[in-house]
Amino acid sequence: MADGDETRTHRIAVIPGDGIGREVTPAALEVLSAAGAAHGFALETTEHPWGCDYFVEHDRMMPPDALDVLRDTDAIFLGAVGRPDVPDHISLWGLLIPIRRAFRQYVNLRPVRLWPGIPSPLRDVTPEQVDMVIVRENNEGEYSEIGGRLHHGTEDELAVQEAIFTRKGTDQVIEYACDLAATRSGRICSATKSNGIIHTMPFWDERFAHATSRHPELQPEQVLIDALCAAVVLNPGRFDVIVASNLFGDILSDLAAAVAGSIGIAPSGNLNPEREHPSMFEPVHGSAPDIAGQGIANPIGAIWSGAQMLEHLGETEAAAAVLAKLEDMLANDGPRTRDLGGNATTADVTQALVGSFATT
Ligand SMILES: NC(=O)c1ccc[n+]([C@@H]2O[C@H](COP(=O)([O-])OP(=O)(O)OC[C@H]3O[C@@H](n4cnc5c(N)ncnc54)[C@H](O)[C@@H]3O)[C@@H](O)[C@H]2O)c1
Repeated sequence: MADGDETRTHRIAVIPGDGIGREVTPAALEVLSAAGAAHGFALETTEHPWGCDYFVEHDRMMPPDALDVLRDTDAIFLGAVGRPDVPDHISLWGLLIPIRRAFRQYVNLRPVRLWPGIPSPLRDVTPEQVDMVIVRENNEGEYSEIGGRLHHGTEDELAVQEAIFTRKGTDQVIEYACDLAATRSGRICSATKSNGIIHTMPFWDERFAHATSRHPELQPEQVLIDALCAAVVLNPGRFDVIVASNLFGDILSDLAAAVAGSIGIAPSGNLNPEREHPSMFEPVHGSAPDIAGQGIANPIGAIWSGAQMLEHLGETEAAAAVLAKLEDMLANDGPRTRDLGGNATTADVTQALVGSFATT
């Protein structure tokens, strides 16, 4: 960022990826540029055509020097990766996971809220009752490369998958969640499964107890992940900050996004809190091949992720303005896409928001 200039500039690497990633990413960037014009900054974007199409041509999801190219940016803005004819473990392990790990983006921050005017599939819940943040561990846990398969294709075939929980990795994500909870209601819930998973989860519980013992201002609780899924549906208002391992956080955040109306609105930030490396912002949803190319994808998840990115870049007023305009549009019967019960296109939603900045 160039400080002191009339217009501050942030250098953003953009990876639209596949499917609806290519539709929601430009849509979100239009809204973020409008916010920049209104708030005195510009995003200098460099687009990278990496993803499954790139894989089909080059046999890899991104070029060998991709991480070096990304390293020298202020943030990374990603759409989604995944194509039906490319196995998901290739698209995930060839692009997303290397970026998250190389840049120590160990916090996956997934806010969930029910926006005014958006119907929840749950009866009688109000926006006040659905306002939580899921802090998902993003670098280790159940998503590990350690393991293997033996005796392929025989009756003795077996697969082993190791889950990795380091003290450093566990402590740093729980500590981040504690600090976040202290800025909110003070309620923090740990997702566990220490009744069934007898090594890693009791260790996770111990580290949660250790961290929260140093935060007397917090009201900690731990809940088994299966019961927690039920409780988020039955009583979402009970939860504020939820900290979870990589797998539990991944599953829980899709469930919570559904409670809030649609996966199409859910945002996420892959954060390197120390800011030694760029952080990456992306909607929670995938490439949605079932609706890709039709121009009907909901861009709100990408736009909200963009607001998270602005916040991270220090553009807090602009980030708040994007969310305020989003809230205003949804609460006042503005355009909504099919996943939210409307018939608006991606462009309709985008133009409504861009237009609202023009009238600021
Ligand atoms: N971070 C990522 O890039 C990421 C995340 C999840 C899945 N994926 C990949 O995406 C591909 C499809 O996965 P999936 O179908 O399980 O999940 P998905 O999120 O792509 O789609 C699930 C359902 O939600 C709908 N949906 C998702 N986003 C929407 C939006 N913005 N607007 C309207 N409707 C939306 C889809 O139409 C679909 O019916 C797979 O290849 C998967 O591996 C990638």
